[in-house]
Amino acid sequence: MGMVSRRQWLQGAAALVAAPLVLRPARFGAWAADTPSLPVPPLEEGRMAGGVRVFDLTIRAGTHDFGAGRRGSAIGINADYGGPTLRMRAGETVQLNVSNQLGETTTLHWHGFHLPAAADGGPHQRIAPGAVWQPRFPVKQKAGLFWYHSHLKGYTGRQVYFGQAGTILVEDEEEARLPLPLVYGVDDIPLVLQDRVFDAAGQPVYDLTPMTIAMGYIGDVPVVNGAIQPHFIARRRWLRLRLLNGSNASIYRLSFSDRRRFYVIGSDGGLLPRAYRARRLILAPGERAQILVEVRPGRPFRLEGEVLSPMMGMRRRRRARAMRRLRFLDILPATVLESGPRPPRRLIRLPAPQPARAVRTRRFVMEMGMGGPMMRHRSRRRGSMGGGMMGGNGPMGGNGPMSGGSAGGGGMGGGAMGGGGMGMRFTINGKTMDMERIDEVVRLGTDEIWEVINRSPMPHPFHVHDVQFRILDRNGRRPRGLERGLKDTVLVWPRERVRLLLSFRDYADPELPYMYHCHTLEHEDAGMMGQFVVVA
Ligand code: C2O
Ligand code: CU
Ligand code: CU
Repeated sequence: MGMVSRRQWLQGAAALVAAPLVLRPARFGAWAADTPSLPVPPLEEGRMAGGVRVFDLTIRAGTHDFGAGRRGSAIGINADYGGPTLRMRAGETVQLNVSNQLGETTTLHWHGFHLPAAADGGPHQRIAPGAVWQPRFPVKQKAGLFWYHSHLKGYTGRQVYFGQAGTILVEDEEEARLPLPLVYGVDDIPLVLQDRVFDAAGQPVYDLTPMTIAMGYIGDVPVVNGAIQPHFIARRRWLRLRLLNGSNASIYRLSFSDRRRFYVIGSDGGLLPRAYRARRLILAPGERAQILVEVRPGRPFRLEGEVLSPMMGMRRRRRARAMRRLRFLDILPATVLESGPRPPRRLIRLPAPQPARAVRTRRFVMEMGMGGPMMRHRSRRRGSMGGGMMGGNGPMGGNGPMSGGSAGGGGMGGGAMGGGGMGMRFTINGKTMDMERIDEVVRLGTDEIWEVINRSPMPHPFHVHDVQFRILDRNGRRPRGLERGLKDTVLVWPRERVRLLLSFRDYADPELPYMYHCHTLEHEDAGMMGQFVVVA
């Protein structure tokens, strides 16, 4: 690749703007000599039909080339891996026609969205092979970065790992008034950060064992938008990076290779009230951040991520150690950089949380322990699942894409837990996920405090559907940084206690629940998930 791919990129970009001279990259010796250019997921704006913005999404299996000699079976949405970036405007109504051509059951969840439970795309909205699911809902988000991904009970980790995830950009008027970079693919770039394990033949491997389930499935090869260690040529002075930790289980401590400072402007659910400067940022699976970074002529730099070890033991989070460093993305300044306005410090209005309005407090205690229900899972699995999906490799299990059994059976699978009663229980309030059990009933129109407590030796990113919540405090201390903004996922370290303020508005459904769960996908698949309904 190298120069050739860069030239190809330049040709593509030159078609977008009429300033080809600006695009020539400076030479930086070894930088990006042998890396592919960053794939920017295609921007999908849908089509308007009767005032509704309609997106057609087809989930299918195929093969994907990650670059660097790595390729293998994959799942994509209108693509061979990952999916397009869906752009929506706050206030409009969208409809998503999701066609399942995967050859097995799946779901597609709109992570971070406030919507009716029936449109959520969680484990209850199963899409049978060959079927089309058509949720429709108004966009009630603030401008920000959201995402969509598989949420099939027991198989989310596998389907996401093989590529079933993409991003959503919501825009609104409040954001449009700010002088922020907003040219998609030029100075506003979504980065889906993941890591993968490849075998000796260069194929992606998803191999569950008691250990990888307990630790979460953590890879050693960085993948950004489906490419391994790519580069991006920046031609504007300010770059807006929309970062999604789309990994199954890795907690990333992100920074730039030269330790440069950047502005953090957005959290999971939208922009922050004020930008703040930072050199590092921790993102757990499912979390997002928007940052602005200044590009200076002649100074290439690299986005890096340290993967924090989940083996925290009794250590405190401040001493979290990195188990490895991933080189995510090289950023190369073009020879001529277009200048732009200085980014604003004040961003949006976000009223202070009002915990006094909460009508009650609920507690969610996350624990891990040995044995228990895993034994029952195992015997049930032996009876019905055979060498099902989780047993082999490839997105559908078995040895090829289509060789697995049908999805949706028991829990974690195929021999991973075999022998010795080695199953680990991942529980919230002592329970593992049961689709037939409603764990919490919430009243529509009320605010609640949810107190999330981690009594396990590992960190867990706690995620709630339907709601963008506020963080009141962490171990009694006021939130800092990203946690002052709207959040839908919060990382809770061992022995920590985090209090959230949630507001349940607009949508009630006594039958269909929303989920709350650990967003380490192997923990979620193993049952670290519960269900709540909102009732009128
Ligand atoms: Cu990102 Cu319940 O999921
Ligand atoms: Cu979600
Ligand atoms: Cu977890």
